[in-house]
Amino acid sequence: MKNIVIVMLIFLTTSRYGSCAKILGIFGAPGRSHYILGSTLLKALAEKGHDVTMVSSLGEKEPPKTKGTYRDIVVTEIMKKVEEVEKQQRPKMSDWENMNLFIATVFMGHTMSKIMEPLLWDDKIQNLIYSNEKFDVVIVEQFLNDAQKALAIHFGAPLIVMSTVRANSWVNTLVGNPAPASYIPMLLTDYSVPMTFSERLLNGILSVMTELFYHFYVYPNENHRIKKYIPNGVDISDVLYNVSLVLMNSHPSLNQPVPYVPNMIDIGGFHVQPPKKLPQDLQEFLDNAKDGVIYFSMGSNLKSADFPPEKRDAILRTLSKLKEQVLWKWEEDVLPGQPKNVKLSKWLPQQDILAHPNVKLFITHGGFLSTIETVYHGVPILAIPIFGDQKLNARTAMNNGFGVVLPYSEITQDRLTQTIKEVLNNPKYRDNVKKRSEIFHDRQVSPMTAIYWIEYVIRHNGAPHLRVAALDLPWYKYYLLDVISFLVLVSLVIGCISYYSVRAVCRKICNKQKGKKLKQT
Ligand SMILES: *[C@@H]1O[C@H](CO)[C@@H](O)[C@H](O)[C@H]1NC(C)=O
Repeated sequence: MKNIVIVMLIFLTTSRYGSCAKILGIFGAPGRSHYILGSTLLKALAEKGHDVTMVSSLGEKEPPKTKGTYRDIVVTEIMKKVEEVEKQQRPKMSDWENMNLFIATVFMGHTMSKIMEPLLWDDKIQNLIYSNEKFDVVIVEQFLNDAQKALAIHFGAPLIVMSTVRANSWVNTLVGNPAPASYIPMLLTDYSVPMTFSERLLNGILSVMTELFYHFYVYPNENHRIKKYIPNGVDISDVLYNVSLVLMNSHPSLNQPVPYVPNMIDIGGFHVQPPKKLPQDLQEFLDNAKDGVIYFSMGSNLKSADFPPEKRDAILRTLSKLKEQVLWKWEEDVLPGQPKNVKLSKWLPQQDILAHPNVKLFITHGGFLSTIETVYHGVPILAIPIFGDQKLNARTAMNNGFGVVLPYSEITQDRLTQTIKEVLNNPKYRDNVKKRSEIFHDRQVSPMTAIYWIEYVIRHNGAPHLRVAALDLPWYKYYLLDVISFLVLVSLVIGCISYYSVRAVCRKICNKQKGKKLKQT
């Protein structure tokens, strides 16, 4: 009996199963939506009893009270860089909307990489790098920041990548996930499936061009950073293709269904919280709106106040003629010409508002978190997408029948009125979003299965058994180009041999016949 107890004690103390791990999360991308996703995940890990260190550009106001420890490291330099870039080259909404796909790819890759650089040279990070601390796992948000991934190797930990959007060329290449350009539109496009010939043409060119841009510009740049800021910096290729797990903020209820290799896991919707009580004034406003409420928000990065006056006036004239009440996230103190049925607020508890049964329509920029939340609560949308993945999200909502897209450049009083009426009066939008919501909620495990998978990677020392062999093949072998060339060559040789032998045989027969004819005459 004593022996069993001792064996069990030894097992409990040595086993990593269920024990507390040291976890480093790096979510430096500027923007509240990125931060919400990272901090929600890391707080859940701390709540589970793990010791968590969160590197970000924003940080918590008060340290969260969790079972394990939660340490914030805030790199304030990132937001300063954002301000610098905005001062130099802040594109207007209309510039963004019309930006060429190729330029947008290069612009994002180049600018974001500049903004993210402080994440390695900031004093707090350098102190951490030289601190001899060890971690059991490092989780990095995939957002144009490949150099940071080298910190996993530096701290002797497996690397987990989290994508804040659906599967895309940034993460597919890391784990060898197949994503044929023939039916999977690139993230920055607004193509729907099936794509037309010209869409497939552009999609194909864009996917090859993006690959080349990363290989010949972004990765060498990031490699340079690794060598500069991380002692004994490894080579970026050892970092990129050794990812243990990719957590995808995605789900078939929200995105096109696509193939995944075994170490890609969908956790889309994990950030959504059960509805909380609304502030009194909002509760009353929503309860009393007998004709329903339209909720209007362009998200946390875009500001409604950036609308130029003519667009804003068109919107105001439209809203003032509606019988519905409107709740508008407006970031300034006054709105000139504010109609009676419009209530303004600089900040609104979006999830709790969407949960209210009187909300009939959500006018949105089509950001991915907003899309998830609206599907969760079953509210149809009118999308005014501007940049990034917004156009594709909006297009997907349209294809799934729960939203209408109104391009920013086409906003006029007539078009806006007509589109709002269409979504409000045609029951198909509400029915479709309810169906999507059912698919969203019908799951075997909650999206917080992320915690299980992170612990799984720790338990199995990086889970190399999930890694697909595609990653060890050079590209020409992956696409079977060597095999195809071989087959073409063999066919050519067989073709030539057949041709010349047949010709030789024919000549012989002809000569014989000629000979016979000569004899007869
Ligand atoms: C790849 O990751 C595994 C698991 O984290 C680690 O043991 C291995 O050393 C890594 N390989 C390289 C080349 O860094």
